[in-house]
Amino acid sequence: MRFDIISVLPELLESPLNHSIMKRAKDKGLLEVLVHQLRDYATGKHRQVDDYQFGGGAGMVMKPEPLAACIRKLQAERQYDEVIYTSPDGVRLDQALCNRLSLKENLLVICGHYKGVDERIREEFVTLEISIGDYVLSGGELAAAVMVDSIGRLIPGVLNDETSALFDSFQDDLLAPPVYTRPAEWEGRVVPEVLLSGNDKLIDEWLHEQSLERTKARRPDLWDKFVHSH
Ligand code: ADE
Repeated sequence: MRFDIISVLPELLESPLNHSIMKRAKDKGLLEVLVHQLRDYATGKHRQVDDYQFGGGAGMVMKPEPLAACIRKLQAERQYDEVIYTSPDGVRLDQALCNRLSLKENLLVICGHYKGVDERIREEFVTLEISIGDYVLSGGELAAAVMVDSIGRLIPGVLNDETSALFDSFQDDLLAPPVYTRPAEWEGRVVPEVLLSGNDKLIDEWLHEQSLERTKARRPDLWDKFVHSH
């Protein structure tokens, strides 16, 4: 799978995507992430990528020409399954959307900055607008990094234990159960006995029960969804 990311601050994407699981995914050839500096597509002495808002609102807007030049160059080289714009007014990224996008081959991501991109770019090129939550970031790069990570780890072969993504929180509309490691007793707190029992059936039942209780207690919204779909 390949991500092309258009950004005015490529530095922000370097560290999060070059360590741990993302690094392994790239090393294994399962994930490619190419970051394109938008300023390289701007013309004029100052290579300006933003300009004043028509109508007089506060804050700058990303100019259409450099974005269009960059998107068109990339689109001439490959077909993108989606052209994604990171924005607080997009659809909320959730596990279902990550699952769906993890099946794609090529995704193009435009990172917004300032007050956002000129609306005509959205009309002309963007097929999907994604928000990572109801808060405002100073730029779309962190949202793009969250997307690459949450989608990239779902590509088959990226995680060591193929089954582990199946047991993530949200994968079946439930939160994950609590987990424990050694020592079996720490500062007077003991690991639930069932986990030490060696009885796989009992353990699975207990874990499922914990998932249900945790979801009911912490996320009534998810619990409702779970009850209605099962
Ligand atoms: N850009 C600014 N805020 C954002 C958010 N919440 N999600 C995605 N992109 C953003």
